[in-house]
Amino acid sequence: MKRIGVLTSGGDSPGMNAAVRAVVRTGIYYGLEVYGIERGYKGLITGDVHLLGARSVSGIINQGGTIIYTARCKEFFEPEGRVKAAQTLKEHQIEGLVIIGGDGSYRGALALHAEHGIRCIGLPGTIDNDIGGTDYTIGYDTALNTAMEAIDRIRDTAQSHDRLFYVEVMGRHSGYLAMMSGIAGGAEDILVPETPTDIDQMIEHLRTGMKRGKRSAIIVVAEGDDAGNAYEIASKVAERSEFKDGRVTVIGHLQRGGRPSAFDRVLASRMGLRAVEALMEDETGKMVGISGNNIVLRPLSEAWECRTLFDPKFLRVAHILAT
Ligand code: F6P
Repeated sequence: MKRIGVLTSGGDSPGMNAAVRAVVRTGIYYGLEVYGIERGYKGLITGDVHLLGARSVSGIINQGGTIIYTARCKEFFEPEGRVKAAQTLKEHQIEGLVIIGGDGSYRGALALHAEHGIRCIGLPGTIDNDIGGTDYTIGYDTALNTAMEAIDRIRDTAQSHDRLFYVEVMGRHSGYLAMMSGIAGGAEDILVPETPTDIDQMIEHLRTGMKRGKRSAIIVVAEGDDAGNAYEIASKVAERSEFKDGRVTVIGHLQRGGRPSAFDRVLASRMGLRAVEALMEDETGKMVGISGNNIVLRPLSEAWECRTLFDPKFLRVAHILAT
């Protein structure tokens, strides 16, 4: 194998650049040419493919986002789109691909391998930490710290005004980030999509807290909670209770940007190196994960078959400590 490609796909996450750097530099270390494919699978369809040198990835380990851009590409999920993608890869004589992204991107990788024989290795890149086959995804730790810091700041003003706040944390399908940032920020309650939300029970928790002397409270709401978004939940609580004056903060895409934490940079560096070595070992259809601080290779399908959901025992921690 002489040439490999690297792409970032789906929602960006802090540390993706560190992973790209690791792939490029490991490839060069082993005498390979490494091509950056722009905007995920879209770049394979439009032919936006460029050779990356060691200096192309200088000074990016500390940058959020992704220098090779990212996108969600519908066309690639049709067989005709993958034919175009395979043509681009053949034109550039690229034999193996490192795909940095979430489980949707991995499904595309499996199809590309099955139909066109391109070797594919996935790296888990998402702030949601909801991918099976790995304890942590690249970007989660940074996003967690960003959300925690936002909650800390809200706590200051909530306490000063004796106010109730709802803080919405990202996670359309996953409450992991909300759960952990809620525990780290000492939230009074945490609402996540994985467990049914009972608004009346939440109101009772708030009342109990107030009886025990609390004067302010923070409810962390995962974006995809079954009872609605933070605004909808705030208005349901206001309709049904004496808590009529809550304020809502949606952290939103702030969580996706920013300088990656040391944890994410090290994780991305270790994973990127392993991904290139895996391709050189003729591996395909696998993802790189971390398990018990060891870098491991797992089948790509584990990403969705063994999705990481937060363990409900964390809710218990949150509830006991919020008294
Ligand atoms: O999967 C990452 C993520 O940030 C989710 O937490 C969020 O629900 C979604 O992407 C937002 O996607 P978009 O950037 O397309 O609005």
